Amino acid sequence: MENDVKPSAGHVLVFDTTLRDGEQSPGCSMNTAEKLLIARQLERLGVDIIEAGFPIASVGDFEAVQRIAQEVHRPRIAALARCVHNDIETAARALAPARHSRIHTFLATSDIHLTYKLKITRDDALRSAAECVAYARSLVEDIQFSPEDATRSDVGFLCEVLQAVVEAGATTLNIPDTVGYSAPDEYGRLIRHIRQAVKGDYVISAHCHNDLGLAVANSLAAVSNGARQVECTINGIGERAGNAALEEIVMAMHVRQDLFGATCSVDRAQLYPASQLLSHTLGFNVQPNKAIVGRNAFAHEAGIHQHGVLSNPLCYEIMTPESVGMPQDRLVLGKHSGRHALIHRFNELGLDVASHEVDALYTRFTHLADRKKKVYDQDLISMVLTHRAPVEKSVNVAARQQ
Ligand code: KIV
Ligand code: ZN
Repeated sequence: MENDVKPSAGHVLVFDTTLRDGEQSPGCSMNTAEKLLIARQLERLGVDIIEAGFPIASVGDFEAVQRIAQEVHRPRIAALARCVHNDIETAARALAPARHSRIHTFLATSDIHLTYKLKITRDDALRSAAECVAYARSLVEDIQFSPEDATRSDVGFLCEVLQAVVEAGATTLNIPDTVGYSAPDEYGRLIRHIRQAVKGDYVISAHCHNDLGLAVANSLAAVSNGARQVECTINGIGERAGNAALEEIVMAMHVRQDLFGATCSVDRAQLYPASQLLSHTLGFNVQPNKAIVGRNAFAHEAGIHQHGVLSNPLCYEIMTPESVGMPQDRLVLGKHSGRHALIHRFNELGLDVASHEVDALYTRFTHLADRKKKVYDQDLISMVLTHRAPVEKSVNVAARQQ
């Protein structure tokens, strides 16, 4: 399907930033092979845009964005850049192989950031934002602008900057609640106000952090007020308390379609595989009571609940575990397991194994199963990564052990 950046009425674009904002959180850094693995699962999941990284940040980030741009074709690939020519030009180079690309450039608009971090005036910021967006637009057609710390900015000034960047060529206006300070009504009102005040043809986007535990609620309030893109991460990973969780936004829009009147292209049955793949790749577990993808998200302990669910699941279940791709029968893999069971588990984990890889992976699996009683999901992910990029994976493991 062709990647379309203009959503139709009621359709919300899903912009995944697991590999950029998510990766910025402690313990979440990934090497290129790992990022590629996640990017392929994001493609299978059906997200519209993958923010693959921040190319100026490091050689590794540049390479990861470039590899994803080369190899992942259906979603649009975005790269982050500060409002600085060198950042923007580097992002454009990393994105050059992409079939569909987007430069995402940002500049703070709150007085706190302008005074203490950037040490520039409002006028400087206004000029710089418009000038950098025009430069980015000379390199790439699709430009997203984010006024960092938008929710603590003076609203009049915020709209002035947004109007200037639209006139300079920005096609998406992303409104970050950078420090997770906003509340749903307030954030929804801000989105509505911007839509009314800023003239032009653009998509408005929500980007919410979870410092007060409100990131998903704020994102949904934005959707109710006309946002047609949501920025989010798998398992809600991200700076500090994280970003809005993709799986929660997607399922809320689906289960409460009556309320939000919004649809998206995500394949819901790929949500659990994506969550598992990310958590095993990063090496940390999803909290058991995490909505949608936690181990206990569908578990009923109390007798009265069990009785109700057995009589009719509708008593206590607003969605089924199968609908988010959570398998109900967990086969244990060991030395007696065959190829079918192994391929089945790879699929459940969101690992897309090509037929020409099966023999080599099965041989690795049998060797491992000879040494260990049980082969865990983490072992299978490592197996695929080392099979595909032996050097890179071993370097990364060594770095994490230091
Ligand atoms: O939270 C934030 O402000 C960001 C911007 C770079 C969009 O992540
Ligand atoms: Zn952010």
